[in-house]
Amino acid sequence: MEARLASRPVGELTEEHFELVDAEVGEPGEGEFLVRNDWMLLSVVMRDLMEAEPHPELPMSGYQVGEPPWAPTVGTVVRSNSPEYAVGDLVRHTYGFREHVVGDAGDWAFTKLDPDLLPGPHYHLNQGPTAWRGMVELAGAGEGDTVFVSAATSGVGSVAGQIARCRGAARVIGSTGSKDKIGYLVDELGFDAAFDYHDGPVAERLAELAPDGIDVFFDNVAGEQFEAALRLAAPNARFVLCGGLSGRNPTLDLEPAVLRDVTFRGFTTSYEPESYAAWTEHYSRWLREGRFVFPHTVVEGGIAEVPRALVAQLRGAYRGTALVKLS
Ligand SMILES: NC(=O)c1ccc[n+]([C@@H]2O[C@H](COP(=O)([O-])OP(=O)(O)OC[C@H]3O[C@@H](n4cnc5c(N)ncnc54)[C@H](OP(=O)(O)O)[C@@H]3O)[C@@H](O)[C@H]2O)c1
Repeated sequence: MEARLASRPVGELTEEHFELVDAEVGEPGEGEFLVRNDWMLLSVVMRDLMEAEPHPELPMSGYQVGEPPWAPTVGTVVRSNSPEYAVGDLVRHTYGFREHVVGDAGDWAFTKLDPDLLPGPHYHLNQGPTAWRGMVELAGAGEGDTVFVSAATSGVGSVAGQIARCRGAARVIGSTGSKDKIGYLVDELGFDAAFDYHDGPVAERLAELAPDGIDVFFDNVAGEQFEAALRLAAPNARFVLCGGLSGRNPTLDLEPAVLRDVTFRGFTTSYEPESYAAWTEHYSRWLREGRFVFPHTVVEGGIAEVPRALVAQLRGAYRGTALVKLS
């Protein structure tokens, strides 16, 4: 069974934009293997990839009507004619929105995973590489910093804030879209403070929570949250620009940027092997030490639930990384 994109949404995505198809999965040929998909990640970026012409500079391909979209996925090899992949191997790949896929060892989309590295197979579907690149490699967040993360309950934001905390930040503040998610950030993820961005002017909320200014801003939202953070930038503040969920470009007030030596750095995730290894090493250690939680929501129900779950994800229904349990 697979969930195909049946038509391109104009405006809001609904379940009707998908069709569930009992698709034939062939037997693996010479050098190939059959994977049972166990877990799949959902993200807001999937809506952008459904456009007929997604932004030409996005570092990933758009979705085609009549095909199952790609998505980060983890599965288990259940049949193999490949010397490199054995039955039982855990693999990560991008052939999501389907229950099974035939893989080829030469396909770069497949990576074999160490099943003993993390507490469960779904822990491999985290947004850590993006959060690590922005928070550590570019912002250099560390001891004494006051850090602000916008869209802090997103897959990326919920990891980014915890990375800053584990690296000794003095104060980690997050913004979110609902009251109940404030408790999640503070009580479960260890943020020092959080606020609902619907709750009055963002600049006022931030000024209350970061009276001494912001050293590091990890921005997933742009718009008003960026404007507010810049007004409160501390001297030598580092702003890393990860995404623009608000869909609104901020009005740039250059005065605080000039007077306080603020650095801005936009980025896309690089997946450099050294960066990936550094993130995985810290992630597995912090999990073992009980200093880090993998922030995620599990949607049960298999492939049939994927369209409904993605619609819910786009409405902000979930906390942390949204995962569908496929098997
Ligand atoms: N630069 C890169 O390489 C890279 C890579 C991956 C992702 N990203 C970016 O990282 C950000 C998070 O992606 P993700 O995959 O982690 O997201 P996600 O897990 O799908 O989380 C989505 C969350 O974002 C919040 N949100 C949605 N619309 C919003 C709006 N208009 N204003 C403020 N918050 C909004 C909602 O939380 P609330 O209910 O709390 O509002 C929602 O639950 C996005 O901007 C994405 O483009 C960048």
